[in-house]
Amino acid sequence: MYDNNPSLEGLVKTIDEKKQGTAFMPESEPVIPEGSKRFYIESYGCQMNFSDSEIVGSILGDAGFYPTRDMKAADLILVNTCSIREKAELTVRKRLELFNKLKDQKPQMMVGVLGCMAERLKKKLLDEEKLVDIVVGPDAYRDLPNLVSGAEEGNRGVNVLLSREETYADINPLRLNSNGITAFISIMRGCDNMCSFCVVPFTRGRERSRNAFSIVAEANDLFSKGYREVTLLGQNVDSYKWTNPEDESVVNFANLIEMVAHINPDLRIRFSTSHPKDITDEVLHTMAKYENICKYIHLPVQSGNSRVLELMNRTYDREWYMERVKRIYEIMPDCAISSDMISGFCTETEEEHKDTLTMMEYAKYSMSYMFYYSERPGTLAARKYEDDVPLAVKKKRLQEIVDLQMNISHEHNKKDIGKTFKVLIEGTSKRSELDLKGRNSQNKVIIFPKTDGDEVGTYVHVKVNSVTRATLIGERVLA
Ligand code: SAH
Ligand code: SF4
Ligand code: F3S
Repeated sequence: MYDNNPSLEGLVKTIDEKKQGTAFMPESEPVIPEGSKRFYIESYGCQMNFSDSEIVGSILGDAGFYPTRDMKAADLILVNTCSIREKAELTVRKRLELFNKLKDQKPQMMVGVLGCMAERLKKKLLDEEKLVDIVVGPDAYRDLPNLVSGAEEGNRGVNVLLSREETYADINPLRLNSNGITAFISIMRGCDNMCSFCVVPFTRGRERSRNAFSIVAEANDLFSKGYREVTLLGQNVDSYKWTNPEDESVVNFANLIEMVAHINPDLRIRFSTSHPKDITDEVLHTMAKYENICKYIHLPVQSGNSRVLELMNRTYDREWYMERVKRIYEIMPDCAISSDMISGFCTETEEEHKDTLTMMEYAKYSMSYMFYYSERPGTLAARKYEDDVPLAVKKKRLQEIVDLQMNISHEHNKKDIGKTFKVLIEGTSKRSELDLKGRNSQNKVIIFPKTDGDEVGTYVHVKVNSVTRATLIGERVLA
């Protein structure tokens, strides 16, 4: 119902699993040494998965594989998969069927499944359905070259071991599909939260934080290569905690963003995802202190009702969440907040659904990712609660959430008319070669006419003259 609905595009994000699956795109096909092999990779799911594909690209590069954007030219096709909702898995299955058809024409081609579905469906994919040659879970990517060689010799390869230590800290990701300006940096892996609807703790294992110095080094390296924005990634960045083995000193998330902010005032810092139970005032004050830490927080509420939140095992209630929102706006009045919402979770009543709507109005989200509940096998909710809200009701409630968010986003944007923002230029507008696009600190896209000397990767000041529900439209002004 919400998929492929063009009116929603860019405006309110209902994740469209069908449109995902961005393939790795090197700028141009590299000329490769005779006899070398090529890999093709598609990624589904969250930013974490896209970031992991860059780690995989680097590991394969070291093993002598070259990237290609042409799946037919590939010797190895990889799909980095997502299990978050049923639809995500169905999409991947369709892709696997297509890759298998290619394989029929080119039998030496290997097909591998990476990521979150690997954990869930390892045996099924390998043995019962014989859809793939290799299955590798998110903590086992270093083993990939080894598994590929095994598979070339006819041994189907599988490694889905989850680790308590692996953070790939020493791997320098191969930047895939990069605009050369913005990049992701994984700062932690796994999740210890056990929200009852969520499959991630099962597919990605225990939470662990990456060496803070390796994060700063990666950000530094990106800055020296011309990048101007890094997004620090984790399922719950606020619980980032790294203990330096040398002196037992502890780096928390507030310390980490401060360390990255010091690299250069021209390097912007974003992060995702913040958890309402863990986001501290220390983090908010650090954000306020540094101009280059973007004033934007993705703070998924999931539901606005305390009983539902308890069933979801989110460990905060409506009042707690409202207090956090209030604090954010007190400390940073110009901060934008976005959210994730799930409609129709087990036993949710109409009244309880209305609490989500009023929460959206209270928090004034600039945008949201919105879903209806999809039961995932093995999760706490699947084991404990009945998925008893009929699909039609889930969809009706979701539509109400989507409609409301569209209005709130529009109002949010209208308040920006007449304001001037510092914008990092990211490229040319999709609609017109004569326009540039960039984002402001609040993560809103701004389109403005190109003037002489404007360059991608530089900052300009743009005054907003008009808005749509999804975009700000403005013109360059002097700072
Ligand atoms: N770590 C992040 C979320 C990761 S998953 C957090 O805690 O906020 C991204 C989003 O997918 C979640 O915020 C949730 O809104 C949605 N989601 C997760 N499991 C789902 C399910 N079973 N059905 C529908 N939506 C789900
Ligand atoms: Fe899933 Fe909750 Fe962890 Fe987010 S915090 S990944 S929703 S278990
Ligand atoms: Fe999907 Fe795994 Fe991310 S289930 S949302 S790819 S952590």
